[in-house]
Amino acid sequence: MTKLWAGRFDKPTSGLLDDFQSSIPFDQRLIRCDILGSVAHATMLGEQGIIPQEDSAAIVEGLNGILANIDAGTLAIDPRAEDVHMFVEAELTARIGEAGKRLHTGRSRNDQVALDTRMYAREACQSADTLVRNLLSTLLLLARRHTHTIMPGYTHLQKAQPVTLGFHLMAYFQMFKRDVKRFRLAYDEADVMPLGSGALAGTTYPLDRERVAALLHFREVSDNAMDAVSDRDFLLSFLCAASVCMMHLSRFCEELILWSSNEFGTVTMDDAFSSGSSIMPQKKNPDACELTRGKTGRVYGDLITLLTVMKGLPLAYNKDMQEDKEAFFDAYDTLCKCLTTFTAMLAATTFNTDAMEKSAAVGFTNATDLADYLVGKGLPFRDAHHISGVLVGRCVKEHRELGDLSLAELRDVSPAFENDVYEAISLKACVERRKLRGGPAPEAVEASIRRGETWLETMQDEAKR
Ligand code: ARG
Repeated sequence: MTKLWAGRFDKPTSGLLDDFQSSIPFDQRLIRCDILGSVAHATMLGEQGIIPQEDSAAIVEGLNGILANIDAGTLAIDPRAEDVHMFVEAELTARIGEAGKRLHTGRSRNDQVALDTRMYAREACQSADTLVRNLLSTLLLLARRHTHTIMPGYTHLQKAQPVTLGFHLMAYFQMFKRDVKRFRLAYDEADVMPLGSGALAGTTYPLDRERVAALLHFREVSDNAMDAVSDRDFLLSFLCAASVCMMHLSRFCEELILWSSNEFGTVTMDDAFSSGSSIMPQKKNPDACELTRGKTGRVYGDLITLLTVMKGLPLAYNKDMQEDKEAFFDAYDTLCKCLTTFTAMLAATTFNTDAMEKSAAVGFTNATDLADYLVGKGLPFRDAHHISGVLVGRCVKEHRELGDLSLAELRDVSPAFENDVYEAISLKACVERRKLRGGPAPEAVEASIRRGETWLETMQDEAKR
């Protein structure tokens, strides 16, 4: 196949190079963006009188025909084309003849690929945004169901203080809420129209860049041609957002894996989201969680790939940048799969509330509250902390819990103890007293859920616009 750029060459390219440099196997995903971008460019060229009106009309009609065939699955993409841009242009010219050769007026593949990728990145940000918001709705439903479910909270994976499951779930709500914000920022960054930048130095034709931006619903046009063709920061922002989101999913998965272990036993995974063993008949493994945790490394890898590709590139465009797409697409596909599967799995997961409460009742999660009780009786916190510690030490040796100590035993250590201590260190009291904004008390969590619901509605409304 003769190359569109073959004019200055004396011989054809080596088959090795053709194969080596072809991006069509992966950039064909951009074909819809590429065609829509070309339709806008050709429309503007006609309106500006840069190419004849009838040629502009023929190009637009031809491109729409190609798009219709692509959507219907009736046009095979030629794997021998160098890239998607060359394929579309060659196909157009094969269909409409001479007029097709005017499409590339005032344009380079460098600003064209920047445009296509930005259009695709906007879609990716929107899909990720929607999937994360689905997860957020699921979290709100679950948290509502569990505002009163008491469980142990951990630091250093050692039991710390009693919390509620609703509170724990709402911690994840906050994390994924920030992810929505990050994907929206990444969207804004992609939402800049680069056509008119040419290869690197703009163009001599009187293009109407704002018109193209309006046709393609871009917020603004780029301000420096050299930057516009050599910038992939918008993809890095997507990859950063995806990496952080995967990190959040991975932490959640790690907890579900732990909790579903026999040792914790606080979660039962749904059969539909577990796998068995080919040898051990009893096994039920949390594979979906483990795979999500594993795929997090893969998405980080995609981010590092692009950061590394970009780090040594002189301005402006370099072919190295063609390597951006596989990393971007892989991260995008992986993220979407993980979010979709995780949300469905989470909705089907059973939280064993009795086991959670039982677990919170052992391991001195109320030791801080015992100290706080003494503070209430007038002791300085440091002394109260020491007394509570001494009592914990005794209980550890005798395999008892703080609530098992008799009033006489307590008063041996401090005369400040009275009969109301038992109520004060009950799990229910421990949790209910932590009712400051942001705390685990049912009423505080309910308020946090209500704020979450309002926020999510606002985000939904904004997404519709
Ligand atoms: N396939 C190329 C890419 O993905 C398109 C831009 C090619 N530009 C060039 N000057 N060879 O980056």
